[in-house]
Amino acid sequence: MLTITDGDAATGQVVATAGSYRFDLTLPGGTTLPVAGVTNVGVLPTHRRRGLFRRLMVRQHDDIAAEGLAVAVLNASDARIYGRFGYGMASRYAVVRIDTHRSGFATAPPTRNLRLMRSAHAGDVLPALYDAAAATRPGTLSRSATWWAMMLGDTEMWKGGGHHEVVVAEPQGDDPGGYAVYRVAPDGEGVTVTVREVVAATAGTHAALWRYLLDVDLALGVHAEVPVDDAVLWWLDDPRALITQQVRDFLFVRILDTPAALSARRYRVPVEVVLEVTDHFRPDSGAAGRFMLRGDANGAACTPTADDPDITLGVDALGSLLLGGVDAHVLAATGRITAHRSGAVDAVATAFGWSSAPFCATRF
Ligand SMILES: CC(C)(COP(=O)(O)OP(=O)(O)OC[C@H]1O[C@@H](n2cnc3c(N)ncnc32)[C@H](O)[C@@H]1OP(=O)(O)O)[C@@H](O)C(=O)NCCC(=O)NCCS
Repeated sequence: MLTITDGDAATGQVVATAGSYRFDLTLPGGTTLPVAGVTNVGVLPTHRRRGLFRRLMVRQHDDIAAEGLAVAVLNASDARIYGRFGYGMASRYAVVRIDTHRSGFATAPPTRNLRLMRSAHAGDVLPALYDAAAATRPGTLSRSATWWAMMLGDTEMWKGGGHHEVVVAEPQGDDPGGYAVYRVAPDGEGVTVTVREVVAATAGTHAALWRYLLDVDLALGVHAEVPVDDAVLWWLDDPRALITQQVRDFLFVRILDTPAALSARRYRVPVEVVLEVTDHFRPDSGAAGRFMLRGDANGAACTPTADDPDITLGVDALGSLLLGGVDAHVLAATGRITAHRSGAVDAVATAFGWSSAPFCATRF
């Protein structure tokens, strides 16, 4: 944790803080990259707007880069603040409610053996299932044993914890299985099921778990935060049974080392493109410069080049592209990408896009 103290370092009052966790972030293609998860950013109300936060951001990103990490991520309490520090919005999630009375599936989902489990025992089972599913969803953050203990612990906090039900889908053939964590609370004449997470490496287990959640006795509705492309909508016979109440930003990505970050992910179709990356916050860092990216579904290499650029973009826009959830056409249309040859934006959009939208269920 970094701090700034008012007055003497030993006796003065701490007036500003910024911390960071270490995670492995899943990228398109199922590869992972060690990242810093920036958190606990705060400045006392008595000391705001004097530049303390900016000072902490400079120190923190110097430290993260010195550690050799190519990327920092965060969840923003205020989404306006971090663009100036090179963060780009990279993942969003949908807040949905499904009316259980209209929640029949268009076709029968695959069957799975399901087993209810006490959360006290879930710590032995859930981490392996979570890790098995991680490669299928860009944006997933690894969870340490301490993190799991907090998420499944008795104390409820915004990161997790408190009383929950746990249902586990047993492995079947090559399918490692999965789980759902949820809560049931009285709601008028019935109950509402609030889903904390549904984790599955395959479409079959995902569907079986959702069928279970929608069939909880007395449930009037199921409330959940899901990937924006969650397949549950497409199982429903009546798609209007699912109401999307909100779509919200979640992960913001800050690239600190462009070659390392772009080499680590995979690309949907072969791409060869020269990117000119600008970085106002850290102009002399490893993010800014001109880079040749060659990549495909099996690997990628990104190296400095003197060739003419195909596109120019800020490091924040590049962060938005990293997880495959933002279309380069939209970034170009809103002035965040400048193209220097025709077809360049199309090539980037097609290669950087991915088959599943990024999603992160770990609040930090
Ligand atoms: C948000 C917060 C950390 C800013 O701290 P601060 O020390 O006042 O910020 P600084 O004076 O260093 O300002 C840094 C930059 O952010 C901008 N900024 C600060 N707060 C902002 C806000 N609420 N909205 C938009 N911009 C903001 C400043 O204008 C400044 O911009 P510039 O350097 O480009 O000119 C502080 O107000 C705070 O702790 N707020 C309550 C908790 C909170 O919202 N935390 C955010 C975590 S995501």
